[in-house]
Amino acid sequence: MAFVKDLAESKSLLQQQNFLHLEDVLSDEFIEVLEQYGREIADDRLDEIDEWRISGKKRQFLFDFPSQDFLDAFCENIGGITGHSGSDITIGERHIKVYHEDAEDFPAPHMDRQAAEFTIGFPIHIADDSRVCFFPHLSRKENTGEKASFAKVPEGTNMEQYYEDDRIVKMKGKIGDMFIFHGSTIYHERIKPTGSAILYIKINAANRDPLGEHASLLKSLESKQAASAA
Ligand SMILES: [Fe+2]
Repeated sequence: MAFVKDLAESKSLLQQQNFLHLEDVLSDEFIEVLEQYGREIADDRLDEIDEWRISGKKRQFLFDFPSQDFLDAFCENIGGITGHSGSDITIGERHIKVYHEDAEDFPAPHMDRQAAEFTIGFPIHIADDSRVCFFPHLSRKENTGEKASFAKVPEGTNMEQYYEDDRIVKMKGKIGDMFIFHGSTIYHERIKPTGSAILYIKINAANRDPLGEHASLLKSLESKQAASAA
């Protein structure tokens, strides 16, 4: 099982706040899977997603769900908190991001691509000073684009001061926790990210799979199942 709590209990709170930090909700199995990824990344045993290798600021790795049963339980529980049926959920993105030393400390906030109706962050490791920040006071107009969209910040703005605004909600989190928010309709960003590693699962119920990562997930689970049956 993926979670130790029925996430549906937090559905109305998520509807009210639009972002939520849930503590200690992951099963031991899920935590073990995340820790295993953390070790493999640290030991350089995993292949990065090619398109991101060039950027240098962060490394991204594709996350595979351990089994079809795990994925089904995951989708059912995430369906409960998002108001969707588990079988309607498309996993539009499943990336582990690892932030390098040259990642910006205070980047401009962004909205995720449209396929991220909900973005769910699962910390693997969070650097001491790192925080995920939400901007409920900025525009909530959906990003309908195929790429992330950044807020316009006037040139010359001191970005460290920019983040001192009391209206910005900052959260830390740890392994075992999850963040869930409307990725394509609320501005958010991670500050002082260097050294952090987070699994991001972005879901929707509109069949949006722009990177083909839902399709490739189902294929990889099928071949896992075939291999274990053989
Ligand atoms: Fe994002």
